[in-house]
Amino acid sequence: MASELLDRIRLSGDVPEHVAIIMDGNGRWARARGLPRHRGHREGMKSVREVIEGCVEAGVRILTLFAFSTENWQRPPQEVSALMSLLQLYARKERAELRRQGVEVHVLGELDRVDPTTRRAVDTIVEGTRGGSELRLNLMISYGGREEILRSARELARCVVAGELALEDIDEDVFAATLFTAELPDPDLLIRTSGEHRLSNFLLWQLAYTELHVSSVLWPDFTREHLFEAVLDYQRRERRFGRVSAP
Ligand code: IPE
Ligand code: IPE
Ligand code: MG
Repeated sequence: MASELLDRIRLSGDVPEHVAIIMDGNGRWARARGLPRHRGHREGMKSVREVIEGCVEAGVRILTLFAFSTENWQRPPQEVSALMSLLQLYARKERAELRRQGVEVHVLGELDRVDPTTRRAVDTIVEGTRGGSELRLNLMISYGGREEILRSARELARCVVAGELALEDIDEDVFAATLFTAELPDPDLLIRTSGEHRLSNFLLWQLAYTELHVSSVLWPDFTREHLFEAVLDYQRRERRFGRVSAP
């Protein structure tokens, strides 16, 4: 099944270079089974493994996963701490395997708000996977699109005030270079699971011309086959970037 889908992807043209995913639906997955919410988050780790392997198999170069938003800090403290513990567990359990697979992990977001133990765990996964060349994995943690844009605006304003930058030199490239995603191309494909049709403050600048794919599957049930279906859906799109179709 997975290999048939991969064959179809290979015959269908360009694979998205950069895929971003809003991993949603863990709580509903748990509730449907009468389990506490953290069990849904834990189960979601398997799907993270699935999509990483699926991206490597399909030839996706960059995968950006929304793991924890700036708004998620407002969840009940026990859920926040369960999510932070899970991140620590992920870093411990997956580091060696990610390294073996050639996955280079980057962690992006307002990490000052993350507790020191989780910060250290995150640092070990970043350091332990440096140099991986099969896939770049961005884990977005304590990330919010508006906060990211504000940070950039402040940084550019600081440079102008300090006389390091002329106002008229601020263009899209200069602005984009100050974002967390500085050296990366914008996502080609955004997937959101659990059927929700909203961005929830994810990559507001970067998603300007990204193709959107909403899957009704809850994140813990999401497999590489679902990823491949999303890639096939992407390959059927015509990206016009505001222009007209080729005649
Ligand atoms: C996504 O699942 C994980 C995070 C936001 C951290 P949710 O926890 O949002 O699950 P639902 O949306 O309540 O089902
Ligand atoms: C978005 O999901 C954040 C992550 C997946 C990390 P949420 O579940 O927090 O978003 P809303 O509240 O449904 O918009
Ligand atoms: Mg949710």
